[in-house]
Amino acid sequence: MAAVKKLRVGGSVRAASDKSISHRALMLAAVSKGKSRITHILPSDDVRSTAAALRALGAAIPPLSDEFFVTGQSARFLKTPADALDCGNSGTTARLMAGVVAGAGVTAKFVGDASLSRRPMRRITEPLREMGAGVSLAEGGGLPMTIFGAPLRAVEWTSPVASAQIKSAIILAAVLAGVRAVVSEPHRSRDHTERMLGARGVHVRVNGNTVEVDAGQIVRPADVAVPADPSSAAYFVALALLAGSGELRLTDVCLNPTRTGFYSALKRMGADIAFEDRREEGGDVVGTIVARPSILRAVQIGADEVPSMIDELPLLACLATRADGVTSVRGAAELRVKESDRIATIVTSLNALGATATELEDGFTVTGSRAGLAGAVDPRADHRIAMSFGILASVTGNEITITDRECVSVSFPGFWDAIGAATQ
Ligand code: S3P
Repeated sequence: MAAVKKLRVGGSVRAASDKSISHRALMLAAVSKGKSRITHILPSDDVRSTAAALRALGAAIPPLSDEFFVTGQSARFLKTPADALDCGNSGTTARLMAGVVAGAGVTAKFVGDASLSRRPMRRITEPLREMGAGVSLAEGGGLPMTIFGAPLRAVEWTSPVASAQIKSAIILAAVLAGVRAVVSEPHRSRDHTERMLGARGVHVRVNGNTVEVDAGQIVRPADVAVPADPSSAAYFVALALLAGSGELRLTDVCLNPTRTGFYSALKRMGADIAFEDRREEGGDVVGTIVARPSILRAVQIGADEVPSMIDELPLLACLATRADGVTSVRGAAELRVKESDRIATIVTSLNALGATATELEDGFTVTGSRAGLAGAVDPRADHRIAMSFGILASVTGNEITITDRECVSVSFPGFWDAIGAATQ
């Protein structure tokens, strides 16, 4: 299938900083005893929700800027907040902070926006309850949720879904309370919590899909330079692949192997992407991605690969409209409980634009075509849907408008300007 001719890309882009690492950098700085330096944090709405929640618990988190210091007092000094913790749109804030609150032995109520309030919280309250925390949850299993502080005990937990948020909530609660925890999941989810605890002197044993922390460990302070988010860089890589000419260089990207499934899938699709300057930085792998216009073919994605590209699947669906053949994604039922029901949002939006997509219980199929796509996309307040279709909207021959472009601010403030700059 021929690449679209007119769109030209060029330049070097430093995509927004990593959201997962930014949340964890704040939480771990707040619960360690001593001074941590944080540079290049992602100043997005979701990360601000975590900063505000930690401040409400008594942690001295300064206004977010490109370089700041947090002097932590240890989790023992966190206190019950006066008001509910408003997690906004951020699932990571609600779930990981529930672990922090339980581990610190304090009581807090969690609230959020309409989307977050619908998302499932039992997946973390069940293990936290098993550990001894008190829990109250809205009837449907979403927010509002209250975690009541109580002494915690050791836990061995097998999660039915691969989720870094579940794994992290349990591990954080255990480490802060000083008890042992063993968490197993069906497939390996992102491992930032394990790596970042390791860098702070906490011994984390990883054996396949099982993670274990011993009782009685201390979290030491550490400096973090947050790299660019591979999930945010992905939009620019896709833009370059769909362009007619030019090249984009994505610098300083986190290339942690639990996050790069999308890029492996792109290679199978025939994408012209290369990794340069790969290096170890702060306990993680960082490098440059170079992407050029490519002729793409369809790809098949199964459950094993899904966790390593969970946030990129809406973008993969959009790219599949330009790939030769039928792309299928299975084993991805988790997409139904993200910021929107992403399976439904992707399939409905693609079909409304004139593409051919089918909804499956646990995924979707998309048939590639040369035809131009046209129409309006309502991202249903879901940042990743807005950005994924924003890439399709940039492609010459498509006439797509995105309503509610502002929702990208939860993970990538400045996204639309950055896309504009890359296509000039
Ligand atoms: C995240 C884990 C993923 C991901 C989310 C961020 C994290 O969620 O979708 O954007 O920082 O731990 P799940 O662990 O629930 O799959």
